[in-house]
Amino acid sequence: MEISILAISYLVASVTFIIGLKMLSHPATARRGNLIAAGGMTLAILATIFLYKDDGRPLGNYGWIFSGIAVGLVLGWIIAKKVKMTAMPELVSFFNGMGGACAALISIVEFDYIYREAASEPDKVFGSLIHTGHYLAIIAGAVIGSVSFIGSMIAWGKLNGKIKDVSFKGQHIINLIVLVLVLASAVATYFAATNSAIIYFFVTVFLALLYGVFFVQPIGGADMPVVISLLNSFTGVAAACGGFLYDNKAMLTGGILVGAAGTLLTILMCRAMNRSLMNVLIGSFGGSASGAGPTHAGGGTVKEITISDAAMVMAYAKKVIVVPGYGLAVAQAQHTCHELEKVLGEKGVEVKYAIHPVAGRMPGHMNVLLAEADVEYDKLLEMEPANEELKTADVALVLGANDVVNPAAKTDPSSPIYGMPVLEVGEAGMVIVNKRSMKPGYAGIENQLFFEPKTSMLFGDAKKVLQELIAQVKEI
Ligand code: TAP
Repeated sequence: MEISILAISYLVASVTFIIGLKMLSHPATARRGNLIAAGGMTLAILATIFLYKDDGRPLGNYGWIFSGIAVGLVLGWIIAKKVKMTAMPELVSFFNGMGGACAALISIVEFDYIYREAASEPDKVFGSLIHTGHYLAIIAGAVIGSVSFIGSMIAWGKLNGKIKDVSFKGQHIINLIVLVLVLASAVATYFAATNSAIIYFFVTVFLALLYGVFFVQPIGGADMPVVISLLNSFTGVAAACGGFLYDNKAMLTGGILVGAAGTLLTILMCRAMNRSLMNVLIGSFGGSASGAGPTHAGGGTVKEITISDAAMVMAYAKKVIVVPGYGLAVAQAQHTCHELEKVLGEKGVEVKYAIHPVAGRMPGHMNVLLAEADVEYDKLLEMEPANEELKTADVALVLGANDVVNPAAKTDPSSPIYGMPVLEVGEAGMVIVNKRSMKPGYAGIENQLFFEPKTSMLFGDAKKVLQELIAQVKEI
């Protein structure tokens, strides 16, 4: 009876994961979807703790289990409450690393258990004492989990500026050699005599950790979101291996869903940037976007606009399309932006937002940012309808966006972002661009838009500029 309740609990949990994922695909349902999946996960955890039987014996160790849960709960709660929106990608990376570590630890514990059982036959080949499928699940969980753990930690360090990008000539060859050594050591563990298998096993884990460092270390800091998504899929696969080991269906389903979702997200992010995954992994795109201003090769001069003129133009416009970008998140100006939308709305101006899929630094960054400021979802336009609507807009107000409005993506085949779909703000009657300087964005390249006759630059921190705009519009 208990077994079937356990199985039903796992089934319910698996269904909630799928429903939750589906609901995460729309801002209006995302929060509820997250809660539903978390509820399913809680059910799966409690069912395992109280209903799972090992050879007819309950799990026990409740003191340890609930102490661990309590520590994790309190730490996770505090960290998640404190994190700033702009630091979200690094938090995701840190939590993903913890998932990878858990998956690797499961494999290590399971290996140790089997190794002890086999200890009475020290001269036999270790592989002959274990089912091959079982061994594959253990070693895959240990290797992939270790790579995911250390890789995510490096990504976390890079995103918060504690770890610098380091790359040297021939690094990819060395990475390949280390990867081959990982595989060779994993095979050696299987064919080793039982008494030495544990040494080979830990050498494999060590080499996997080394590979994780070498794999992520050379990738440009700004490419980390894509790498984190990839590592996230690794963690999913490693967790699925744990599900195999313990015949835990919820863990298996959860792991496979995370693995698949992470892979799809990685592909979608690469596609939206028009870059191959290989280019992200071995290219140095976006590695240093904070240098001096770009050298301007195209024609045109930069024209500035004053706050009062910008306010005037927008207050008398029929339709204004706001294009938010990473700078809006940096300035934490989402609430002020919503305020401007309302003030313009009171003057009869129709205001909408054009959302580029990779604006900001994480998937859905702009949607989350604007949702935080209670911007109505139906005011958010995805790229294709936004490009249509821009044709009928009087003003395109670009707030801290750069690469996602760079026309070079359409016009300059030599540009690193050539082919990336962009928001065609030049189609609007007038373009007002707010940023602090002429410095480039993530891709580290110049933006011809800033030199176009239709464009006027409104320099300054987005929050401050928006506050001043609101004050001016109110006076008109
Ligand atoms: P970016 O091209 O990075 O440009 C952001 C601009 O914001 C900068 O040029 C910066 O100029 C300005 N800025 C920074 N702080 C500001 C502030 N306080 N006030 C006003 N402006 C400020 O951003 P984007 O257009 O959103 O494009 C995103 C880029 O990230 C794309 O290249 C995309 O491929 C990449 N990327 C995105 C993702 C995801 S999933 N979203 C993942 C990986 C990579 P100043 O310094 O002059 O102010």
